[in-house]
Amino acid sequence: MAKIPLSPYSLMFAPMEGITDEYYRNVIHELYPQWDTYSCDFLRVPNTNPYPQKHIEKHYGNQTLKNPLLKEKTIYQILTSPGAYTAETVQSISLLGIKWLDLNLGCPSKTVCKNKGGSYLLSEIDELEKIIKIIRENFAGTFSCKIRVGYKDDQNFLNILKMLENNGVDIIKIHARTRDQLYKGVANWDYVKKAVQSVNIPVVGNGDIWSTQDIERYFDYTNCHSIMLARSALKTPWLARLYKNQEIDSPQLRIKEIINYFTRFYQETHKQQNLVESSRIKRLKSVSRYIFEELPNSAQIKKEFLLSKSFSEQIERLQQAQQLISS
Ligand SMILES: Cc1cc2nc3c(=O)[nH]c(=O)nc-3n(C[C@H](O)[C@H](O)[C@H](O)COP(=O)(O)O)c2cc1C
Repeated sequence: MAKIPLSPYSLMFAPMEGITDEYYRNVIHELYPQWDTYSCDFLRVPNTNPYPQKHIEKHYGNQTLKNPLLKEKTIYQILTSPGAYTAETVQSISLLGIKWLDLNLGCPSKTVCKNKGGSYLLSEIDELEKIIKIIRENFAGTFSCKIRVGYKDDQNFLNILKMLENNGVDIIKIHARTRDQLYKGVANWDYVKKAVQSVNIPVVGNGDIWSTQDIERYFDYTNCHSIMLARSALKTPWLARLYKNQEIDSPQLRIKEIINYFTRFYQETHKQQNLVESSRIKRLKSVSRYIFEELPNSAQIKKEFLLSKSFSEQIERLQQAQQLISS
């Protein structure tokens, strides 16, 4: 088996389009370095002309690429389709000297699937195989695929796993739902367990893992190599620390972390060119979707936070909530 840059039992911060840009990743790395990897959201491989190198560097983050530790802890994702400039794009990405390239085979978006990208490719295994071969030929580092268990149904699931393994994919990450399920129901952990038994490469489990207890149960049940978290990482960005240090979450800890995290993220958004105050507030709101859930009176705290027009107002409201929680 090829040497992969991932220790067993790693916790991986999942890619999230619109959220995990490098400004956000910087904050996560600074406050919660217990995450073993971070992920860039997908770079869409173009159909018309290959991207200039500068475009690729900007998407993945100029600061990230200049910082050896961040560069190494980051996973760089692409999303492609038949006929796109996959070879050229992967060759350009290789020039960046990155260690780990990931192919997005999970995106359920209608537009993406109409263009035969993302999870659509799970329904066309021959076309997918051609793409996998192109990427493998042009990228020498760790190559992972982030899949769902199928497009309309799970009939191809085991064939897809085998095909990926046979074509030199190093790691398979599984969001255990079909594309048509979108986010409905609960991700079925059995698929990940089955995948672990079926292939000889590391399998990373993903989908509906919300707490430290879930993480423990998931490792025990599926025997997967590592776990990737998206919405729970948004809800509890300090989750990897809780798990690794065996810390217990509490409302007091939660509200303290939230204030600290929002303050740091607000500062970081200042570095984004042309981002006016209202857009900075919008970015904060975009990462707040799940974060208040475990707090007493959470609906009221969330409402007041979302109605606040300035950062100072947001923080003031949160500090009032903190006083109530601590009293
Ligand atoms: C807002 C948002 C954006 C996402 N963007 C991406 C993306 O760019 N690439 C990707 O592979 N998955 C993306 N996903 C899927 C997640 O990485 C993950 O597979 C999915 O949310 C299931 O995991 P969870 O239950 O831990 O949230 C996104 C999910 C969310 C909620």
